[in-house]
Amino acid sequence: MNPSEEIDRRRTFAIIAHPDAGKTTLTEKFLLYGGAIQMAGSVKARRAQRSATSDWMDIERERGISVTSTVLQFEYGGYKVNLLDTPGHQDFGEDTYRTLVAADAAIMLLDGGKGVEPVTEKLYAVCRLKGLPVFTFVNKMDRPALAPLAILDELRAKLGLDAYAANWPVGSGPSFCGVVEPAGRRTLLFERQEGGSREALSRESDLDDPAVESKLGAESLAALKEELDMLSAAGLSHDAEMVRAGLLSPVFFGSAVTNFGVRALLDGFLRMGPPPAPRPLSGGGEIAPQDPRFSAFVFKSQANMDPRHRDRIAFLRVVSGRFTGGMSVHNRRLGREVRLNNPKEFFGRERDTVTEAHPGDILGLMNGGQLRIGDTLSDDRELRFPDIPRFPCEHFGVLRCAPGLRKAFVKGLEELLEEGAVQAFRDPKAPGNDLLLGAVGPLQFEVLRYRLENEYGARTDLEKLDYRVARWVEGGPGELEALRAAGTC
Ligand code: G4P
Repeated sequence: MNPSEEIDRRRTFAIIAHPDAGKTTLTEKFLLYGGAIQMAGSVKARRAQRSATSDWMDIERERGISVTSTVLQFEYGGYKVNLLDTPGHQDFGEDTYRTLVAADAAIMLLDGGKGVEPVTEKLYAVCRLKGLPVFTFVNKMDRPALAPLAILDELRAKLGLDAYAANWPVGSGPSFCGVVEPAGRRTLLFERQEGGSREALSRESDLDDPAVESKLGAESLAALKEELDMLSAAGLSHDAEMVRAGLLSPVFFGSAVTNFGVRALLDGFLRMGPPPAPRPLSGGGEIAPQDPRFSAFVFKSQANMDPRHRDRIAFLRVVSGRFTGGMSVHNRRLGREVRLNNPKEFFGRERDTVTEAHPGDILGLMNGGQLRIGDTLSDDRELRFPDIPRFPCEHFGVLRCAPGLRKAFVKGLEELLEEGAVQAFRDPKAPGNDLLLGAVGPLQFEVLRYRLENEYGARTDLEKLDYRVARWVEGGPGELEALRAAGTC
């Protein structure tokens, strides 16, 4: 395959959702189609899936939230899919932001019974800011759901996002039995499989299929046909340019748990979704994926992903050129060459060594501390990607370790701070060597302490401080005193 074909077949995206909308379930079904797991939903697959998704920290299981994010890579229908997993808790918005910086598109997952929820709004705002194309999946249609037209209206009203129906549900709740494409009225009818563990049986048909009427009843079928006429009259339909500019969202309906409509979503997304796009460069201009110069940036760092390995991984997004294992590239921040040895492709915690990668791909590299979030790696010394912005910390505290554990504490802190979830500041007024730590949300402190204890054996106490912001100030000590006197700091 030539480089352009390799680029065109790549799809790198993230799923964004309010907690509980069904992200884990949907991801699991995608993996099923990708052949990455054999059967979703069974106990065995649950276990496989646990290691396959980010759901690996006990604290996540205990709290029922996911706070870390990983990457799942698989082949499907000729496409190379890089699915970036985002944490499911709003305190981890910064991690989500960085993940979205590495994505070319997002699938926005809604609970059909709830529509657009607060976390959906926050995550969508990031996509909008980045101009990311957003595909919508309205999940849980097997349960009582909002009217589909009301959901389209809500996307416009709450998110300011124009949307069109790529498909439309046939029935809702217990009568949900298929999806129909408003254009052409191609209908897919599904039959439940025990537990939704395998792909639901589906057959292509049309709305005049007697099975539809027997499931919905004549009245509901007539109402559905009327709705489809209204949709056609409303005139919003696929417009590739608008979708790729993030101004129009194709909406799909389905039920991840019963596996209805998931393949239609995946096929539709891969067909219409964007291949890797050009990236802006710091100082103006952009670089196209077809550019022969190799370029990539580090968007994530993760320590101890696998307790068996106990290592730090830096995640790179390849932007242009061709990656080969062991190649030497320039790190702009360090001002020197670094060798990219032993690159890995990830499947949650599982990893495979890769010898070659292309634009759109996500790679993990063992990181002895030489790679940091935001680093540009390229064979062109002048090339640089813009910095990844930091979110302002809103919670502060001082962390102290139990006596005798200082060595483990310092090592753990150094490695975990590199992940960027918690930032360190030095308070010139504070006694001793205490580091002042700041985070966007309080849960990050909790996770940091948990990991220090479980991964480094360093038990800690947190003294919360009553600060709300941290700011750089310019000027001399006199000016700082003046600010203090004015009560501004
Ligand atoms: P999340 O990662 O977005 O937080 O959501 P997750 O997939 O864990 O799903 C949250 C709950 O919603 C789960 O139920 C899951 O089974 C259910 N769910 C997901 N998709 C659908 C769907 O299409 N239809 C229906 N009816 N339910 C769905 P749970 O009771 O919390 O857990 P479980 O015991 O079922 O795993």
